[in-house]
Amino acid sequence: MASARWSGLILALLSSLVAFGYPRSPSWTLEKRSLLEGKDDGIEVYSTTISCKVTSRFAHNVVTTRAVNRADTAKEVSFDVELPKTAFITNFTLTIDGVTYPGNVKEKEVAKKQYEKAVSQGKTAGLVKASGRKLEKFTVSVNVAAGSKVTFELTYEELLKRNKGRYEMYLKIQPKQLVKHFEIEADIFEPQGISMLDAEASFITNDLLGSALTQSFSGKKGHVSFKPSLDQQRSCPTCTDSLLDGDFTITYDVNRESPANVQVVNGYFVHFFAPQGLPVVPKNVVFVIDVSGSMQGRKMEQTKDALLKILEDMSEEDYLNFILFSGDVTTWKDNLVQATPENIEEARMFVRNIRDQGMTNINDGLLRGISMLNKAREENRVPERSTSIVIMLTDGDANVGESRPQKIQENVRNAIGGKFPLYNLGFGNNLNYNFLESLALENHGLARRIYEDSDANLQLQGFYEEVANPLLTEVEVEYPQNAILDLTQNTYQHFYDGSEIVVAGRLVDKDMNNFKADVKGHGAINDITFTEEVDMKEMEKALQEQDYIFGDYIERLWAYLTIEQLLEKCKKAHGDEKENLTAQALDLSLKYHFVTPLTSMVVTKPEDNENQMALADKPGEGPADTVIPSTAHLNIYQAPPPPSYYVDGDPHFIIQIPEKDDAICFNIDEDPGTVLRLIQDPITGFTVNGQIIGDKKGSSNSETRKTYFGKLGIANAQMDFRIEVTTEKITLWNGAVQSTFSWLDTVTVTQDGLSVVINRKKNMVVSFGDGVTFVVVLHQVWKKHPVHLDFLGFYVVDSHRMSSQTHGLLGQFFHPFDFKVSDIHPDSDPTKPHATMVVKNHQLTVTRGSQRDYRKDANNGTKVACWFVHNNGQGLIDGVHSDYIVSNLF
Ligand SMILES: *[C@@H]1O[C@H](CO)[C@@H](O)[C@H](O)[C@H]1NC(C)=O
Ligand SMILES: *[C@@H]1O[C@H](CO)[C@@H](O)[C@H](O)[C@H]1NC(C)=O
Ligand SMILES: *[C@@H]1O[C@H](CO)[C@@H](O)[C@H](O)[C@H]1NC(C)=O
Repeated sequence: MASARWSGLILALLSSLVAFGYPRSPSWTLEKRSLLEGKDDGIEVYSTTISCKVTSRFAHNVVTTRAVNRADTAKEVSFDVELPKTAFITNFTLTIDGVTYPGNVKEKEVAKKQYEKAVSQGKTAGLVKASGRKLEKFTVSVNVAAGSKVTFELTYEELLKRNKGRYEMYLKIQPKQLVKHFEIEADIFEPQGISMLDAEASFITNDLLGSALTQSFSGKKGHVSFKPSLDQQRSCPTCTDSLLDGDFTITYDVNRESPANVQVVNGYFVHFFAPQGLPVVPKNVVFVIDVSGSMQGRKMEQTKDALLKILEDMSEEDYLNFILFSGDVTTWKDNLVQATPENIEEARMFVRNIRDQGMTNINDGLLRGISMLNKAREENRVPERSTSIVIMLTDGDANVGESRPQKIQENVRNAIGGKFPLYNLGFGNNLNYNFLESLALENHGLARRIYEDSDANLQLQGFYEEVANPLLTEVEVEYPQNAILDLTQNTYQHFYDGSEIVVAGRLVDKDMNNFKADVKGHGAINDITFTEEVDMKEMEKALQEQDYIFGDYIERLWAYLTIEQLLEKCKKAHGDEKENLTAQALDLSLKYHFVTPLTSMVVTKPEDNENQMALADKPGEGPADTVIPSTAHLNIYQAPPPPSYYVDGDPHFIIQIPEKDDAICFNIDEDPGTVLRLIQDPITGFTVNGQIIGDKKGSSNSETRKTYFGKLGIANAQMDFRIEVTTEKITLWNGAVQSTFSWLDTVTVTQDGLSVVINRKKNMVVSFGDGVTFVVVLHQVWKKHPVHLDFLGFYVVDSHRMSSQTHGLLGQFFHPFDFKVSDIHPDSDPTKPHATMVVKNHQLTVTRGSQRDYRKDANNGTKVACWFVHNNGQGLIDGVHSDYIVSNLF
């Protein structure tokens, strides 16, 4: 079907050429511009590089993508990066044709106001995309002119957290097209030495692609490189689509010869602590499980599945119980029981028989579990050197019993009294996650979302594994008094096997020679203190090698950790304290350029703070949160280059000065038939002339008659090329070869960098390479209109390749020029105040008026306010207007 219509259109075009009797120039390529444009939209992404530098767990990632618009018209180019939710964006720059638009981190409220202003001025179009479980999607799109190149560069930083014995760096790869230069480079430097390193890509399916991936490590350095050639990227040998689509994961761990490691650079220190080989502290676990009606079906099956698996993994030293809550609360046993094989067997039976029912009484469920743990401790039913945890799972909000979140928080806080942690698992999206999170944070735990999916059981189990093996409790990290400032959190209720405790701070005396750090904790058998002596001289030697990465990583790591912890504290704080914490977090975010929930990235035009174009946010979860944490996004839209210079309507000339967000306009009143010089550039050879037509009445009274442009001549002498545009047809001359099109055609003509696009009955876009683009707008009026005739508007959309010698009624304004407006005072018509304008050394009286831009909407146009200069632009234009009259169109 499509191809039949296609050839029909081409035939129609050829026959119209034949009908006009013109030979078809062999040097033209004629393409039907289709309304059915396929995937190949002319945007070529020719380079994507991801550079990762990790120094002591602190990752600094730069994603750079370069693209070119090979289409004949402006196109939207999108840049999507999925980054971990735990990462902070630190920089973003956009470069279009060599002009860089840098990103700045601003306070969210300030940024929002500027952003809203930009929106109200039509300068922006936002894009927010959904995020995955661990990732946030950063999306930018910009409108890029034909032939233009664009470079996006995004930087983000993150402290890699140790989980189940590994640090994991996760990159989502999805280039969507074959990319000439595609490369991932990761350099890892770990002063403790690297003990394992592995890189995996979910989409690597054969040995061929495997050869594109190299990984190695030795001593303190690790390296991963992935550089698939174009052919290796193909999903099959003859395919043009990319098989790169999926996860690229780098995992590693460091040597653990010593339980701790301290590093100091420039007065900031970081202390990593992860002892090995300690016996596991027995734990007393109470599972508080939501069995309300909404859990019915798959969620309940998956929960049971996970609980059964968790039971298998329980150590015989452990104690446990199940509390089920719906409208009321039931328990498996009255007290905690030891995880003996017999009890575990009985527990399995119990779990299998759990049934869903009724409402959701979180308050009573939790309080029952907590009091059971408290009682077990008081009555010595559990081992003295054991530790307690509560794991609560729910899929909804409390709706029976005590259902006020504030009150539940208070009750739980009082009941636990800081003695053990509460972990909250929120199943699905239909719940108040903020509540679950602050409830857990207030009680030394954390909240985790369980995504409703086929692997929900694995997510539950995975969480349990993280907390299954406490090696130490009541962990406290101590430094010499008065030697340390700005310390991050240094007490932890648990150290879990496979994780790591990280504390950072600042030395009071930068030149200190050595200091001592102690880590104290209760183990399964005894209390332990680990002491770390830090010798600054040795440290310097050990860290010298890492100059090649980045010098201030410890300071940034400290800032990252401090902000993260302040934000967490904010979630459970109130009133003045909350404000103070927020202010501190904001200060640091601004100082270190982190896009956090309190700041935004704003992209500005160079030297133009007024014209904020874009915004990158890291939204927190709103108060009435019911959805997955949303995305970090950058809303960006580069407005099509402003039509800085144009003439349309009763020939009204408009000169827009984007820097001033203002415009000047004037009129030229001449007899029909007169040809005016609009643009002339002796260097590049461009000329544009326009011929005036009158209205049907043919009045000669210059006060009342209306005049328009009815014919335009666009020529380039050097290219030996001319276009004549009338309200009926468009004629092109390429040397002596002539082609004619009607305004009824939709056609694209391209030749060596030149392109002419005719949009049926609307407009024509002429581009000469990148740097010169004109638009001619056709105004058609009702054929039987008593007065008006069809006419043309002429717009200069891009003139940056024209020389400084360009002149003409429009061309003389292509060079930078300044004007000042003062003494604005009202006149008889309050909407048209008068003012004094100083421009080109003249002082003029001007009047506020408006003109319309018809490029987008040929019927109504968009109103553009301007200062009107009277008397044929006298004083504004060089010379007098009659200087611009020429004898013919070319
Ligand atoms: C952001 O990136 C640009 C381009 O790489 C760089 O010139 C600029 O200094 C960076 N800004 C910050 C704050 O790091
Ligand atoms: C926060 O409070 C502390 C004292 O509690 C004060 O020293 C500090 O200046 C406050 N910070 C801000 C940013 O208000
Ligand atoms: C634009 O003009 C058409 C008539 O040509 C009119 O029906 C329509 O309401 C106008 N739209 C606006 C937004 O003014």
